[in-house]
Amino acid sequence: MKCSLIVAMGKHREIGKDNDLLWRLPRDMKFFKETTEGHTVVMGRKNWESIPEKFRPLPNRKNIVISRNVEYKAEGAIVISDLKEIEEHFNADSDKKCFIIGGAQIYQLALAADLIDEMYITQVNETFEADTYFPFVNWDDKQGWEEEKLFESEKDEKNPHSFTVTKYTR
Ligand SMILES: NC(=O)c1ccc[n+]([C@@H]2O[C@H](COP(=O)([O-])OP(=O)(O)OC[C@H]3O[C@@H](n4cnc5c(N)ncnc54)[C@H](OP(=O)(O)O)[C@@H]3O)[C@@H](O)[C@H]2O)c1
Repeated sequence: MKCSLIVAMGKHREIGKDNDLLWRLPRDMKFFKETTEGHTVVMGRKNWESIPEKFRPLPNRKNIVISRNVEYKAEGAIVISDLKEIEEHFNADSDKKCFIIGGAQIYQLALAADLIDEMYITQVNETFEADTYFPFVNWDDKQGWEEEKLFESEKDEKNPHSFTVTKYTR
């Protein structure tokens, strides 16, 4: 089976700091919600814990949390300890998608396992101080990735940074 991946990153692939996001971009949050709603989302234990309790599990989505700790409890979510277990909780024949939603360790794990055939990347046009980065993907030789620009968003009073959303498929 294959999964989609969705991420928002700064100019240097930065995605987080102190187990939090680096920006508040309601327009990108809306895109994330609309894209993943109705589907399954898979996240690392740290990403799960970074979501305020009142917002988790992410509504209208099956939430799967990955932790090496088999005793770990995430209320309202399924806990797995190996990416391979996704298949047990996911019907690949349905029209539902499986979305890898981070953080960095889980993106790395999914890319290394060759699990990803679709990526939604929000490129924020700014640099940020960060401690967590999206893994390096060599876009130059494309590695079979086909690029489709979905939309651009200018900054405004509610969205302090401009960004571009691109979809990659292979
Ligand atoms: N900008 C974005 O789009 C975006 C998206 C998501 C997250 N983020 C940010 O990313 C940061 C969190 O990312 P992170 O890389 O620190 O953590 P993470 O990937 O969310 O979670 C790491 C945890 O996943 C579990 N894990 C890792 N490898 C595993 C394996 N091979 N098998 C089983 N479990 C495994 C471990 O949990 P245990 O320690 O419990 O074993 C590990 O501590 C935060 O700052 C968050 O805000 C940004």
